[in-house]
Amino acid sequence: MRRNRQTGWTRRLVAETRLGVDDLIWPAFVHEGPEDRAAVGSFPGVYRLSVPRLVDEVGEAAALGIPLVAVFPVTDPALKTPDGEEALNPENLVCRAVAAIKAAVPDIGVMCDVALDPFTSHGHDGLLRDGTIVNDETVEVLCRQAVIQADAGCDVIAPSDMMDGRVGAIRAALDEAGYQDRRILSYAAKYASALYGPFRDAVGSAPNLAGGDKKTYQMDPANSDEALREVALDIEEGADMVMVKPGLFYLDIVRRVKDAFGMPTYAYQVSGEYAMLRAAADAGWVDDDRIFFESLTAFKRAGADGILTYAAVEVARRLKAG
Ligand code: PBG
Repeated sequence: MRRNRQTGWTRRLVAETRLGVDDLIWPAFVHEGPEDRAAVGSFPGVYRLSVPRLVDEVGEAAALGIPLVAVFPVTDPALKTPDGEEALNPENLVCRAVAAIKAAVPDIGVMCDVALDPFTSHGHDGLLRDGTIVNDETVEVLCRQAVIQADAGCDVIAPSDMMDGRVGAIRAALDEAGYQDRRILSYAAKYASALYGPFRDAVGSAPNLAGGDKKTYQMDPANSDEALREVALDIEEGADMVMVKPGLFYLDIVRRVKDAFGMPTYAYQVSGEYAMLRAAADAGWVDDDRIFFESLTAFKRAGADGILTYAAVEVARRLKAG
């Protein structure tokens, strides 16, 4: 077995997977400002960007060859309400950011989450009625949110809310609004994970959620067959691409999904994963370059067609440098 490992050229020749810039999706946070670029305490290496700064950085991502950027809004707490109406404001921050990117950077795809958590005063992804997240009433709002994002120019609509039946309803709403061309990347198997902490700090939903959890709609980490049922439903309802989330703790799910459906399958190296790797690298406990390459290669080996990662731009730069 060691003969093929002797030299760099044979190792390259026999490599079964290869991480490339085409595999990277960059999640970015946009805020109103005034700072152009503001650090997030619990999320080393990640920044909240103003709209103009975001457009600049997306321009760099596109120049590096990154195919898709996911834009997440940091909503002014004063605009958050129990029903998250700001999600339906066509002039809201995320819509303005998407329109600005589409106008300035034509050759990159733009993705938006469909979910209410950046906009609700309770921090949940859906509507809360008497202590319960209600399904069908939420789905109606999500359909309107998706159409508003499509109006702003969003290419990839990504329902991340885990309500039942939302993919089919959103597909119908987009089609009816004339957006047959817009893709749906469904957060199909999304787990109720402890790894979302830094993200909730970045978008400011952590204080709203106030220690609450999302276990009545996100999946139980104990389950795997259930993930296949979730993915099967989303495909049946019209998803063009499916996602497993989080990433590294759930690579078994990525492999099962890819093998069972052969769909374009993505995984999200979520905020807690990134923060752990970043912190260890910054402390000098692990090698910065190698740890990110190795972790992203693991996604590819598990069958992912692409990875949402906060390291996308830094990794793309290193890939380009060779
Ligand atoms: C919101 C959403 C979350 C993430 C992406 N979209 C958080 C949550 O479900 O609470 C997490 C991403 C990350 O941790 O990097 N629906």
